[in-house]
Amino acid sequence: MNRIILAVLIVMAAVSVSFAAEAKSIVIVFSHTGENYNVGNITEGNTMKLAKIIAEKTGSEIFEVKPAKEYPFSYDECIDVAKKEQNAKARPAILGDKDIAEYDTIYFGYPIWWGDIPMCMYTFIEAHDWNGKTVIPFCTHEGSGAGSTDRTLKSAMKGADVKRVTAVRGSTAQNNRAAAEKAVDGMLK
Ligand SMILES: Cc1cc2nc3c(=O)[nH]c(=O)nc-3n(C[C@H](O)[C@H](O)[C@H](O)COP(=O)(O)O)c2cc1C
Repeated sequence: MNRIILAVLIVMAAVSVSFAAEAKSIVIVFSHTGENYNVGNITEGNTMKLAKIIAEKTGSEIFEVKPAKEYPFSYDECIDVAKKEQNAKARPAILGDKDIAEYDTIYFGYPIWWGDIPMCMYTFIEAHDWNGKTVIPFCTHEGSGAGSTDRTLKSAMKGADVKRVTAVRGSTAQNNRAAAEKAVDGMLK
């Protein structure tokens, strides 16, 4: 009888270990298409290029944050809108949502806009509970690096273990797959 109980306990322990081992990850990304600095008119955003590589290498799904009101196609108009939103600390509405409760690791990607994360990413962050999550941020930029977003994310994602931001040039992410993969490999080490 004791042996049977022991066997049941062993099976139960094995099942719980296998559940515990199934850590889930997701890539949450915002990326703008249209006319952009240094890359011309693009149909897939620079940050999205990185997001897809991360998703492929980690087996994660992608959730794309899309603002309810699209940002303008034209680069000049887009930077104007983005500046106004930043000055106003706007939280533009986004289309749809993703429940992040079941994910342990979140790859969080965004372009640097005026030294910060785009305001629609604050909308997403502030709508979710980050407690206990591991967040691996990545961004693309055209010269300023990650700006102050390392600090910004840490304070906005309360209770999360936010790793260092991996920053890649947008033009590299867009046009140089080998270099983009190398950056992602470095980030996933
Ligand atoms: C509104 C706006 C603001 C930007 N601000 C910055 C900036 O402050 N520093 C920088 O290096 N690049 C800046 N850029 C360039 C983008 O960060 C870069 O092109 C990025 O790769 C775009 O990624 P995406 O194609 O995923 O949207 C800006 C671009 C836009 C459209």
